[in-house]
Amino acid sequence: MKQSNGMGLWAGACVLFAGIVFAACSGGHDDPEACTTGSDPIGAAVCRGKVNFHDRTLVGLGGNGRACSDCHMDSENFQLTPAAAQLRFAQMNATGIDDPLFRAIDADDFRVRGVAARDFTNLTQLGLVRVTIPLPANVKLLDCGATVPCPASALPTSETVADVWRAVPPILDVAITGPDGAAPVWARGPNPSGGYQLDGRIDTLQNQALAALRSHASVVNDPPASFLDDLAAFQSTQFSSPAVKALSDAIKAGTNPLPDPDPVLTPLEAAGKVVFNRACAQCHGNTAAHPSGSTPILQGTQGTATALIRYHDIATTCPRPVDTVSPARFTFKACSPGQMKNVRTYEITNSGTPPGGIACGGAAPQPPCVTRVTTSDPGRMLLTGFPQAGGPGDIQHFDNPSLRGVGRTGPYFHNNTAATLEEVLDHYTAFYKRVAIMVPTAPLLTTQPGVVPPVIDRPFTEAEIPALLAYLRKL
Ligand code: HEC
Ligand code: HEC
Repeated sequence: MKQSNGMGLWAGACVLFAGIVFAACSGGHDDPEACTTGSDPIGAAVCRGKVNFHDRTLVGLGGNGRACSDCHMDSENFQLTPAAAQLRFAQMNATGIDDPLFRAIDADDFRVRGVAARDFTNLTQLGLVRVTIPLPANVKLLDCGATVPCPASALPTSETVADVWRAVPPILDVAITGPDGAAPVWARGPNPSGGYQLDGRIDTLQNQALAALRSHASVVNDPPASFLDDLAAFQSTQFSSPAVKALSDAIKAGTNPLPDPDPVLTPLEAAGKVVFNRACAQCHGNTAAHPSGSTPILQGTQGTATALIRYHDIATTCPRPVDTVSPARFTFKACSPGQMKNVRTYEITNSGTPPGGIACGGAAPQPPCVTRVTTSDPGRMLLTGFPQAGGPGDIQHFDNPSLRGVGRTGPYFHNNTAATLEEVLDHYTAFYKRVAIMVPTAPLLTTQPGVVPPVIDRPFTEAEIPALLAYLRKL
């Protein structure tokens, strides 16, 4: 573990080096007791939370040796890169010194070999961690494994949970990227106004930390609430820049209008901001009443098909859509063989009652009563069992991440499938072309929803890419 070189720790009172807290808030210990001061209770909570975040021992909780910072690495802007995982794996094998990042629960072969599992391909090649989510009552996995296409003869298995493989997001700016209480509001919970995790399924930093301790650190005893409060306090002081901290303070204080966290921009970056506000801000926010960067803007009449929505499928899962027309009108980068190994086929039986949700079997837009989906990650569908594909459904829908500091946090997307921001824009070029073909009236394509014929004026042009990239790198 290296000392953070970035903004990550600037707000904290303690300085972290080599896994030991030096110069802790009141005197040079790695002991949370040393953080207790009478005069500054918030500072003391942040200080204790920072110790907790880096604590591999978790006395009394019976963990597996992992600290939060084993995945949310200080040196990597509090995320995990495939390169860092690979280096740590090589170091562990060369020195024989255990590294708790590599625990059987995150090995590819865990479901087959249990505690003896040792295949860390997802972790070291792709930087992905196993996330296990209970299957909704109306969703089953099929026995065709990662085969694409899954044969029609495939049968449901007895599995009750799904494993998906997800990137470790940075914990920067989490003070303003949880549930925001703002519109647009999604039709179904959990957290219809945004939440933590890539699928928005968790409501508070405390519950997030508890879930992480149980699943990633395998604790057998839950920590006291104060332990989780301290972790939340620490994480809430970690920002991608001082300007985002100022924005967070202003949101908390109810200031109006809120400050714009952008630094001074060059003319090229300023041109890129105009493109961003047209082509990206409808989902990534950044403007208007809640410029947290994770609250979509309001557009169209909420509750009708003209409105921008909260959660989205942007075709980042595997396998990627392929155009059926030749020559292809849009081309996504194909997923690698390693990514394709994480694909499963799900069968969703829609009873017409929750969580299946809606009447089925009638003419479109009603979904069929049984839907099969082959995907590396069903996204929010795993939370709801809601079967409809596309805009109104949950299949492959994810939360809109904040893009603050994004120039420093590659690779990108929930499955690390874009190595660079250039690749991200290539993806969106294909995405916009496909949406324009499939759903030309989609509100995300237009600033003038509901106008016939549809006015497609949001997608960026090839000529605008240099400016957009320059702005993204300044965020
Ligand atoms: C084994 C690796 C690992 C460990 C250890 C770990 N996390 Fe995470 N963390 C993840 C992954 C993967 C996700 C995304 C999961 C998802 O979206 O389903 C995540 C997501 C998060 C998020 C949500 C960020 C956002 O923008 O929504 C927070 C906050 C967080 N972790 C905090 C913690 C804390 C606090 C701890 C320690 C108690 C911890 N994590 C331990 C891998 C880890
Ligand atoms: C239709 C809504 C929508 C639009 C429009 C949109 N995004 Fe996204 N974006 C998302 C969602 C949802 C995710 C999360 C998907 C995932 O992780 O796979 C995401 C993820 C990203 C990520 C990855 C962030 C990370 O840390 O991994 C980047 C970068 C990004 N978008 C940039 C952009 C840019 C640049 C534009 C404009 C050209 C844009 N987005 C337009 C919804 C959108």
